Amino acid sequence: MSKIHAVITGVGGYVPKYVLTNDEISTYVDTSDEWILQRIGIRERRILKPEEGIGISYLAQKAIEDLRSRKDFDPLEIEAIVFATTTPDYVIPNAASLIAYRTGMTNAFGFDLAAACSGFIYALEVAQAFIASEKYKKVMVVAGDVLSAVTDKIDRNTCPIFSDACGVVLLEATEEEEGIIDAILHMDGNSQEHLHMYGGGSVHPASHESIDRRLHFIHQNGKVVFKHAITSMANVCEEIILKNGLKKDDIKWVVPHQANLRIIEAVASRINIPIEKVMVNIDKYGNSSAGTIPLCLWNLEKDLRKGDQMILTAFGGGYTWGAVYLKWGYNA
Ligand code: UT7
Repeated sequence: MSKIHAVITGVGGYVPKYVLTNDEISTYVDTSDEWILQRIGIRERRILKPEEGIGISYLAQKAIEDLRSRKDFDPLEIEAIVFATTTPDYVIPNAASLIAYRTGMTNAFGFDLAAACSGFIYALEVAQAFIASEKYKKVMVVAGDVLSAVTDKIDRNTCPIFSDACGVVLLEATEEEEGIIDAILHMDGNSQEHLHMYGGGSVHPASHESIDRRLHFIHQNGKVVFKHAITSMANVCEEIILKNGLKKDDIKWVVPHQANLRIIEAVASRINIPIEKVMVNIDKYGNSSAGTIPLCLWNLEKDLRKGDQMILTAFGGGYTWGAVYLKWGYNA
């Protein structure tokens, strides 16, 4: 087994300036601040206004600038970029190329990784495998989405939930017993009827008909996804805890995908971890898909200490889901 681990050595994040409140959403769909707060746990979320004419790579650029303000590194030393997003600026070029060019990581190769809300933990696994191979020493994981670009503003099943944000982490090789220790990732392609966006791919390329049928928006069967999210995240967390012989008391933080506060609370309760150890920022930032977990790390970096044992877990379209067990590598 390789003795080389991939450890997070810096975190950056960025959210757009525009604050979309529950009250504003209530002006165009039949909902209320009270309902959204009670049933989802969101007070407000950030949205990239379309008139800004920019996409996810702009948020990523800002997140990397934020990372550089906290952590000294040479962009030319970054060897690979894994950009987890389901809302790239374009199909071609990929968002990884754009971000490499704009932030001076011009010696890196990279690619976009589409795993919906599980994108960040999938990207961590890919990046750590690059580093464990000993061929690469510094890999940038970028994760975020501009879900406002694919949200149907008249669908109250989705529009109160979705938001825009991006987070980044720098992963570096270490011989210390820290960083990403294990990951268990799953996929189930037999669930597409419950969570999908069919327009814009090779089956339904953009056409007048695809627009009329609202195929370029995300559709979900909220109730079904809700149940699967709880069961899948709780089970995979238990699986990774058992596999690594962890005691629950030794787990300092659980960082779950932020889709619904009730999902987060139910997962915490099922795996018997006190809610105080569970990172939550859904109230301020909503569900930015691949962006939620790195955004939690970014928000709470100051509370993290070297050696803290953490479980990250996510569930999203695909379905995709999983858990990562890591030991934090530095004191902020
Ligand atoms: O990111 C990963 C993928 N996504 C998720 O994990 C999201 C999973 N799903 C959810 O978070 C929840 O299912 C939703 C937030 C989408 C919906 O919440 P819910 O508690 O499952 O609501 P429901 O569909 O069971 O509806 C309960 C009631 C219904 O009214 P009646 O029939 O009881 O009178 C709905 O018509 O709430 C009504 N309702 C709403 N009312 C106000 C549904 N959506 C809304 C709304 N505002 N936005």
